[in-house]
Amino acid sequence: MRLSVIGCGYLGAVHAACMADLGHEVVGVDVDAAKVDLLAAGTPPFHEPGFADLLERALATGRLTFTTDPDAVASAQVHFVCVGTPQREDSYAADLRYVDDAVDALVARLAPHPDGPVVVVGKSTVPVGTAERIAARIARAAPDAGATLVWNPEFLREGFAIQDTVSPDRIVYGLPPGPDGERAAEVLDAVYADLLARGVPRLRTDYATSQLVKVAANSFLATKISFINAMAELCEATGADVTELAEAIGYDDRIGRKFLRAGVGFGGGCLPKDIRAFMARAGELGVDQALTFLREVDAINLRRREHVVELAAAACGGSLSGARVAVLGAAFKPDSDDIRDSPALAVAEGVAGRGGQVVVTDPAALENVRRTRPHLRTEPDVRAALAGADVVLLLTEWREYVGLDPAEVGELVARRQVVDGRNVLDPARWRAAGWTYRGLGRP
Ligand code: UGA
Repeated sequence: MRLSVIGCGYLGAVHAACMADLGHEVVGVDVDAAKVDLLAAGTPPFHEPGFADLLERALATGRLTFTTDPDAVASAQVHFVCVGTPQREDSYAADLRYVDDAVDALVARLAPHPDGPVVVVGKSTVPVGTAERIAARIARAAPDAGATLVWNPEFLREGFAIQDTVSPDRIVYGLPPGPDGERAAEVLDAVYADLLARGVPRLRTDYATSQLVKVAANSFLATKISFINAMAELCEATGADVTELAEAIGYDDRIGRKFLRAGVGFGGGCLPKDIRAFMARAGELGVDQALTFLREVDAINLRRREHVVELAAAACGGSLSGARVAVLGAAFKPDSDDIRDSPALAVAEGVAGRGGQVVVTDPAALENVRRTRPHLRTEPDVRAALAGADVVLLLTEWREYVGLDPAEVGELVARRQVVDGRNVLDPARWRAAGWTYRGLGRP
């Protein structure tokens, strides 16, 4: 089938390449010429395991192209809207300008398609009510195109983006009532035929539910993380161990073990801004009380960052002034170069703000750090970053940091002190090598 993917960031670029790999003919459109050039040349503009190979393979078939030309969507029957919805600068709400721009550009080019009904598929994470507004806009601006909007939220995780796109836990269609919705669902079923044949569950619902599914899922995940981080605070006050607590409660299937890793908290381009946008939208809908708990989820999460700065200061005798602090990790999670709302960088900034001499290292994200935070000192080689450190902060659990040999790297630092912001190091091993080890919520 002929598809267009509008917005070639993390979501769009991976979606476009996966759809081409499934056999569809895909044009990816983005306003960022530099990004389009990179993608067209087979160079991923971001770090994602497996994406370079997938992109190369898909481009080689000739079925995948990238362009800045908005007219290129005209040949497609199905249009995926994959642009970003960041937090607004002046409030908690989502900034919908990219969605609105993309839809404006698209509706001006919608026309009947020889292969069947035209379908616009919203994948961006949006405040509930946006799909209804876009559907009305399509009907008003392109009444003759016969186009139908389906809301089809995306649940991919960075670091597992390809797997989550081709083998998602579920596919959700938000459909308008009536025959238009039925026909649009059939078209989307044909797009996802491979996935559906492999048994991926597909849920059909209305627009409002489909939009809420996405933010509800991210809110639940954020709540789980903040719950265990709140327990970490209790553990610290009582001498208990949050990792053992998480393991023990996780054996209960109703609770589950996943997303109960206590540490420096969640970050990234999704969870933090999604819970804030959800609160903002609830306020607009007059049901803000329903989500006041998310304010606490956010507060617990942000408190983790300050707590790690305090632990670093305590390790340095109470003052960070002039202390050499090695920060291992800058990305918001491993296998990503994404530094949006990264807890690691928030801590690095906090330490630097209190006079610490910070050196940040990361296997993938340093270019992004230098571009956005030129005042932070970066060092690509982890051993060089550790040299002369008074305290080491492990803040992103990259495999290479988890695997460090405490005896060997102990020779590099000035003082053997480590704060394990992700609770991934073996305390006994590090202590045996002469380190003062501090985990989060661990004795
Ligand atoms: C998240 C969701 O997991 C995806 O399902 C969703 O599609 C995506 O947002 C989105 O809205 O697009 P992602 O932001 O890639 O995916 O990252 P996660 O794996 O959810 O991790 C988020 C943060 O939580 C990271 O900073 C991670 O270190 C932290 N985390 C995760 C914890 O602190 N503890 C845990 O137990 C798990």
